[in-house]
This record gives sequence, C-alpha cells and structure tokens, in this order.
Amino acid sequence: MSVTVRVPAKVNVQLAVGSARPDGFHDLANVFLAVSLYDEVTVSPASSLTITCSGPDAGQVPLDRTNLAARAAELLAARHGLSPDVHIHIAKDIPVAGGMAGGSADGAAALLACDTLWSLRSTRAELLSICAELGSDVPFSLVGGAALGTGRGERLTELEVGGEFHWVFAVADGGLSTPAVYGEFDRLTEGLAAPAPAASPALLDALRTGDAPSLAGALANDLQPAALSLRPSLADTLQTGTSAGALAALVSGSGPTTAFLTKDEESAGSVAAALLASGTCREARVASSPTAGARVVGA
Ligand code: C5P
Repeated sequence: MSVTVRVPAKVNVQLAVGSARPDGFHDLANVFLAVSLYDEVTVSPASSLTITCSGPDAGQVPLDRTNLAARAAELLAARHGLSPDVHIHIAKDIPVAGGMAGGSADGAAALLACDTLWSLRSTRAELLSICAELGSDVPFSLVGGAALGTGRGERLTELEVGGEFHWVFAVADGGLSTPAVYGEFDRLTEGLAAPAPAASPALLDALRTGDAPSLAGALANDLQPAALSLRPSLADTLQTGTSAGALAALVSGSGPTTAFLTKDEESAGSVAAALLASGTCREARVASSPTAGARVVGA
C-alpha cells in the first residue's frame, strides 16, 4: 500500500517585504500563484523513516531529517502518538533551492500523503497548522490556486483568478539560500523606513480579470534587488527574456529562478527558446497558472 501526492511549484506575483520582526522573520504581503511544475511524493510503510529522491537534480536534495517531507511525517505522527515509519520517495521536477517553494511543496505533499496512508482524516485546518509550523510557504503548497499570504506568509486568504497565465521559468546554476537573501535585503534597506507591506489593488484586479498585460504591470518582488546583489548575472537573464518578448520579468521569490510572464502559450515557447539559446540560464521551463494545490493522485 502506498499513497502518491502531486504538488505544484509557486511564483510570487507580489512579494512586499516589511522590516525584520523580533523573531527574525519579516512581515509580508505575499501573493502566491501555483504553477504547473510538479513534484510527486509517494509514501509507503517501512521499518523506519527513510527518504529517496529521483530526477535530474536529485543530488541536491537533502535526504536526512532536515528535508521538510521528513519533518512533515514526524510532526503528523507526533500529534497522533504514532511512529513515522514510512519510506518517502520524492520524484523531483521543481527546481531545487530556486525560489519556487520546491522544499515546501514536498513538505505539504508528504503531510497529505501520510495523513491518507495512516487514515487520520485530519481537517484542512489541522493540516494547515502543521504546514505553518513546517515553514512560511508550506500552507500555500497545500492550498494551491492563488492566495495572499500575510504574517510571515503563512496566513492565507484565497484569491479569485479569472483566466490562465503563461510563464517561462529560467533555472539558474546553483541555488540561493532564502535566509541569505533576506539578510541581504536587511543590509540593503538598513536605515530606510519600511512601509507596512500591503497587497496591490491593481495586482489583485489583474488576477481577478485574468488580464496578463495588467498583471505584467503590477508584478513586484521586494527581494529582487537582494537576489541581484548576490547573483548579478540574473540581470542578463531578465533582460534576455524581456528582449525576447516577455510581457514582464522578475526574480521568483528569493531566486535564483527568474520568471517571465508571456501573453500566450506560443509566446512562452519562443521566450523559452531565446533564453536557452542565450546561455544565460541552465534550463527554461514553460508552465501555466493557476493550478490546484497538493492532491492525492494514487493510493
Ligand atoms: O519559513 P521558512 O523556513 O521557509 O523561512 C526560511 C528563512 O527565510 C527564515 O529562516 C528567514 O530567514 C527567512 N524568512 C523571513 N521572513 C519570512 C519568511 C522567511 O525572514 N516571512
């Protein structure tokens, strides 16, 4: 008996970052959109907790208890007085350490998979509270679609999306550490008065109407200067995608993956080809949004 859960990556169409809080986290207005790049997480009974990972970038995925999928199994088991004796297999397709919440996605997927395997029937609220404990982006991976995250990003309000958006994601060589990017944000903004982060009404409107040119005009990522400061070569990738016809370009979350919004699927194909040909990225992936959150696809 095994259970498989499919879970999407995310892009932040707005990431408004406030100043650092006493607990070290930053208050955010974080507008998440789930995109059609997926990991699949399969759990099956085992004599102890083990993890394996497959896929081209599997070598970069930690296979110890720091993996959010392992922590999800442990947290859920502890809440029910169980022992987390499962084998977790991650079929990895989401870029690793890329700012697309791949690790968070695996945490949400393992949680849902274990809940199903152990027949616990946790409520959505119970699962969301464990997700929030696992990390700021994990609740969104469970919910999918589009949502505004406030607090440190974990308090979600689901958003309406009136159409399909087309994207290209340029995968860079090597990852960027999220804490390092927030640290660089603090350094770059030191001494500046940080406004309270708030969702942009124009951006929410563009999502509601499904209008790609309006969304392009409203895309914003406060972490982008910090990611560019740590990885200056990303500026060339952004420029290449916009020159090739993308409506807009931005760093995805804390990077180093860059995201390009295009007017349709065909344009996404040509932007992806231009990005690959330029040599400014390792890989260019075409995807659309929104898409559903973590879902059981096999049991
Ligand atoms: O919540 P998560 O474990 O994904 O966060 C990883 C790191 O990102 C945190 O340790 C912190 O350095 C930074 N972070 C932050 N403010 C947030 C979310 C994350 O400073 N709202």
